[in-house]
Amino acid sequence: MLNKDKINEIKQAVNIVDIIGESVALTKAGRNYLGLCPFHGEKTPSFNVVEDKQFYHCFGCGKSGDVFKFIEDYRGISFVDSVQVVAEKAGFQLDIQPSFSPQEKKEHPHQVLYDIHSEATKFYHALLMTTKMGEPARAYLHQRGLTDEVMKTFQIGLAPSEPNYLFQGLSQKFSEADLLNSGLFNAADNNQVYDAFQGRIIFPLTDEYGRVVAFSGRIWQAADLANKQIAKYKNSRSTAIFNKSYELYHLDKAKATIKKSREVYLMEGFMDVIAAHRAGIDNAVASMGTALTREQVQHLSKFCKKVVLTYDGDAAGQAATVKALEELKDFQVEIVTLPDNMDPDEFIARHSEEALEQVLTKSRISDVEFLIHYLKPENPDNLQMQIEFVDQIAPIIAKTASITAQNSYIYKVADLLSDFDYGQVEQAVNTVRLQHRQERSQQVYQQSSPTSPLQELPRQSKITSLMRTENHLLYRMKEHAYILNNYRLREDFYFITPELQTLFLLLKKHGEISSYDLAQQDEAVQRAWYRVLEEKLPIEIGENELEELEERRHRELLKKESQAKTRLIREHSHIGNDDLALDELAQLIAQKRKME
Ligand code: CTP
Ligand code: MN
Repeated sequence: MLNKDKINEIKQAVNIVDIIGESVALTKAGRNYLGLCPFHGEKTPSFNVVEDKQFYHCFGCGKSGDVFKFIEDYRGISFVDSVQVVAEKAGFQLDIQPSFSPQEKKEHPHQVLYDIHSEATKFYHALLMTTKMGEPARAYLHQRGLTDEVMKTFQIGLAPSEPNYLFQGLSQKFSEADLLNSGLFNAADNNQVYDAFQGRIIFPLTDEYGRVVAFSGRIWQAADLANKQIAKYKNSRSTAIFNKSYELYHLDKAKATIKKSREVYLMEGFMDVIAAHRAGIDNAVASMGTALTREQVQHLSKFCKKVVLTYDGDAAGQAATVKALEELKDFQVEIVTLPDNMDPDEFIARHSEEALEQVLTKSRISDVEFLIHYLKPENPDNLQMQIEFVDQIAPIIAKTASITAQNSYIYKVADLLSDFDYGQVEQAVNTVRLQHRQERSQQVYQQSSPTSPLQELPRQSKITSLMRTENHLLYRMKEHAYILNNYRLREDFYFITPELQTLFLLLKKHGEISSYDLAQQDEAVQRAWYRVLEEKLPIEIGENELEELEERRHRELLKKESQAKTRLIREHSHIGNDDLALDELAQLIAQKRKME
């Protein structure tokens, strides 16, 4: 059921930047993200997403809210529905069913296939870890640097070199028809059923929810390794639950770290992802081969917008990187190129876990830098080759948003070529950019333009200084329970700004303001809350900060009263009510004295 804790848990599990990023093109501007507001027509971005506080605010139309509020308003659905939507994105399985219906959960139509895979995983894993038969295979894995702990984490197993070992193990529990549908067995003409995997080390492949949906088996015995006819890896065939073009190895375990770090390492193979894990990097997945598919890219885009391509250092891996770059057009991409044609697994074997961690996190280049090196002419003195290279690379450089980066790329290119200097390369880039701009200006202005490093700062929304003071005070109460408590005890205390008073009452009652409670409030109250969150205050409370706030609040209040008085006096004298006007004036003067 939905309760406040669950709602909070869901909110914690997602990043508002990603969720809004699915519908609004956002670009990083300082510590926030900026885009065109989806709630009012605008040409200059004033829609801010504040990542560290997980809310958005439009300086143009004033709309603000958290992730649920965004979905609510963007899709025009209820709060509860928006929680459901966000929960789904976060991979939660909520069943908000009416409590009177029997809680029998509807089975997945392919549940039996998941069950078969789950049983088979246990079966193969136990064989590897606990039997005599498993010992040499385990020794092979040890020699490749995998500990028992790692084998357990990745549920690695062993399919013995026998025709139907798994079949015998599972045929008591499952019907032959279901077993054949699982893709783990083949029926021969003689009606015999054979295991699809024989004599291979087994890597279970999971879907993003952690359900095993297929296996991949690697040869490991000397005779097989020597036989060039046998494929190194063999995968389950496609089944109702396994689409190889969609799945990414290790995504289930990686997704939490991917969301947190907002980036994913994309590698070629199982052993590479395992090497990354050994190096302490868990946000790595494998495309399982070199050809990254569009479906896999689509799949990844559910989790982040930045890929660190970590394909093998050999020629095939580099060529695959170029292909992947084409597929990853909507992602920010960085590239790790490993030395000496190595893949991450070979690198960890040659060096160390620490060295792999270093190279993955520190030796990254941009996609443009990669392409410069990849496309550069073999012979830098050949003029024709140089010209072709500049023609290829200029449009790529022209697309770079940052001018500083552009300059450094132009320098790099010029450095590589004997017949081009900086100015000539720059001119080639500018020519392309001009063409692009002309093409673009013919289209309707749609998305935010590539951002210049000097982002226009959003205007501060207009609020009175009384409100600002009270915002400040409420912010402190929200951050520090003891302050809230002090004010709880002061029964006569109230906020002058009505919206803040409502929030204060909520805060007093619950100790916090949950998405759920906030969703029950008026739009104005909700906005006021996000204005409070927007306060940029040091974590430390100043020595007399609260006293000064109260004093300022008091002064603002007096000022407000005296303004009201002045207005009243003006009205009285305007209609000839001189006595009353004088009266008020006397009061006003007294009050002004007090204020001094
Ligand atoms: N692959 C595959 N079928 C093959 C070869 C490779 O499905 N016949 C996939 C596997 O997912 C493999 C990945 O492509 O992990 C990368 O292949 P490769 O670089 O050849 O293997 P490595 O990852 O280096 O595996 P190992 O270290 O075990 O040799
Ligand atoms: Mn390898």
